Amino acid sequence: MGDLTEVRRVYGTGDLAALPVFAGGFINFGYWAGIPLDGGLTVEQRIASQEALYDLVVAALSIGPGDRVLEVGSGHGLGARRVLRRGPAVVRGVDLVPEQVARAARANDDPRVAFVRGACDDLPFPAGSFDALLSVEAAQHFEDVPGFARESARVLAPGGRFAVATFFTRTDDAPERLAGLLKTFASGLDHAHRVDDVVRDLRGAGFADVTARSVGEHVWRGLDRWLELGPRPDHWDRNWLRAVEQGLLDYYLVTARKPAGSGA
Ligand SMILES: C[S@@+](CC[C@H](N)C(=O)[O-])C[C@H]1O[C@@H](n2cnc3c(N)ncnc32)[C@H](O)[C@@H]1O
Repeated sequence: MGDLTEVRRVYGTGDLAALPVFAGGFINFGYWAGIPLDGGLTVEQRIASQEALYDLVVAALSIGPGDRVLEVGSGHGLGARRVLRRGPAVVRGVDLVPEQVARAARANDDPRVAFVRGACDDLPFPAGSFDALLSVEAAQHFEDVPGFARESARVLAPGGRFAVATFFTRTDDAPERLAGLLKTFASGLDHAHRVDDVVRDLRGAGFADVTARSVGEHVWRGLDRWLELGPRPDHWDRNWLRAVEQGLLDYYLVTARKPAGSGA
């Protein structure tokens, strides 16, 4: 059951980024390849893991000079700095929560970057406005994934690239079982979107070359090690790794392309 009120509470009046499970203003589980997990972990390494998740997505989009780039679910807006390293002409961030838009604006002073309030299934841009669209650990909150796919296809120009990283589910019984394991699923903050359905929705919206690649091997062990070592708020627990081990969910990089011959 969707609960936008919960998203607004957690990211608006609350600030999830302030929890010790995250660091540096990012709000994602991180991509820990190359970070040793057998000793202690520093806050700098936790921040580096979250930057590396952005870098993975940005690399998948082959962003280059002159590109117009949109991020959906931009949070504190720190991903824009990773995108800027590729020399785009324009970077826009959309977030449902006005407080996040304000935080992102404060964190960025590059004239190429701006943030607006908007929803994944109602993007406030004309058709064909962007060459690349990314979203990092936000799609698990989206109630309307077909709407997100449709809007992404609309705002991308022909030939535009799409890349999303987050956790999606793998089994029909995942919704009930995850609600029993993880409070973010029980509360309605996170939705159990089956990865096969996400792929189907993207194809249904007209995307080509849709792929969903598991990157969980570089996400879950690092996250769990960080949770094991750190002060642990009661609503973030070690059950993420258990859910993965039970085959209920995984972390994915989903990529797609808007066909070059399609209308803007
Ligand atoms: C887990 S945070 C990730 C933030 C950022 N991408 C990062 O990695 O640090 C998810 C973000 O998605 C936003 N969000 C949730 N539902 C949304 C929706 N339907 N449309 C747009 N943004 C949404 C939230 O407000 C929040 O800022």
